[in-house]
Amino acid sequence: MNQATLVTEIKQLKRTKSAVILAHNYQPREIYEIADFIGDSLELARKAEQTGAPLLLFCGVRFMAETAKLLSPDSRVILPEPKAGCELAEMATAEQMRNKKKEMGDVVTVTYVNTTAEVKAESDICCTSANAVKVVNSLPENRRILFVPDKNLAAYVAQETGRNIVPWEGFCYVHAFFTVDDVRRARKEHPDAVVISHPECPIDVLNASDRVASTGGMLKLAEQYDELVLGTEAGMCARVSYDHPEKRCYPLKPDAICKNMKRTSLEKAMQALKDETGEVTVPEEIAGKARAAIERMMSVSRPNR
Ligand code: 13P
Ligand code: SF4
Repeated sequence: MNQATLVTEIKQLKRTKSAVILAHNYQPREIYEIADFIGDSLELARKAEQTGAPLLLFCGVRFMAETAKLLSPDSRVILPEPKAGCELAEMATAEQMRNKKKEMGDVVTVTYVNTTAEVKAESDICCTSANAVKVVNSLPENRRILFVPDKNLAAYVAQETGRNIVPWEGFCYVHAFFTVDDVRRARKEHPDAVVISHPECPIDVLNASDRVASTGGMLKLAEQYDELVLGTEAGMCARVSYDHPEKRCYPLKPDAICKNMKRTSLEKAMQALKDETGEVTVPEEIAGKARAAIERMMSVSRPNR
């Protein structure tokens, strides 16, 4: 089946089943064509909370689909590729969290949404790349904060808030290996471009960039600039071009690819919608606590706050 036919059939299936398709910005470009909404982790969580659809096809990675399930418990949430995990999320387990909290004593735990539901259930509050600074600023001053699992996001938030943050030693392999030399080279090649980096990059890369933003933030900033270099997953430029075909967008590194995000395809999306396979569930004993941590984040970062 060619791409256009697949897209038509998926849209038809979507109508028949009253399904909603949510897609992360890093998804392959072909997936944008079938999505009802494309966004960053926070925007997708908000959409999941609002949709009320009986069936949610989540084109992204598992932790995002789990978050959608927690915020929309009455929807069946389907991940078209069950193997689509996140290496960063796998760098912290619930048992390690429990041990660390015991060792640290009096501590507030903030977990990035890039974690399993079990790890969220061990934490006080969640955050995304879009609201991490706001979430940490909402916590009582003078408390030590254990920030899990991304050490680079932790360093950025510590710099921006001045809070006492103890980082977990995790990192995202797509973002952690960008260097200041990459930024210098990009500036030489594209002297008129604004350099925007994702807070999962090392702090020296962030400080060498012009702006720091979540993927959703990058898309908003694209409205202001004609030429951009993006320090994030290379597919983000396809996302910018999808909304703004006239902009010139260059990845900081063209080989910075999240292989799990690229596991989704139109064929897999159609099959999953047809058979309703790949359902994501969270055991109730974990869901209650994990949902509470996410809802605390949502209430801190409502768009009007
Ligand atoms: P965003 O929430 O900024 O889209 O980031 C998600 C992610 O996994 C980045 O690697
Ligand atoms: Fe996880 Fe990194 Fe992929 Fe984002 S880019 S989903 S943090 S592995």
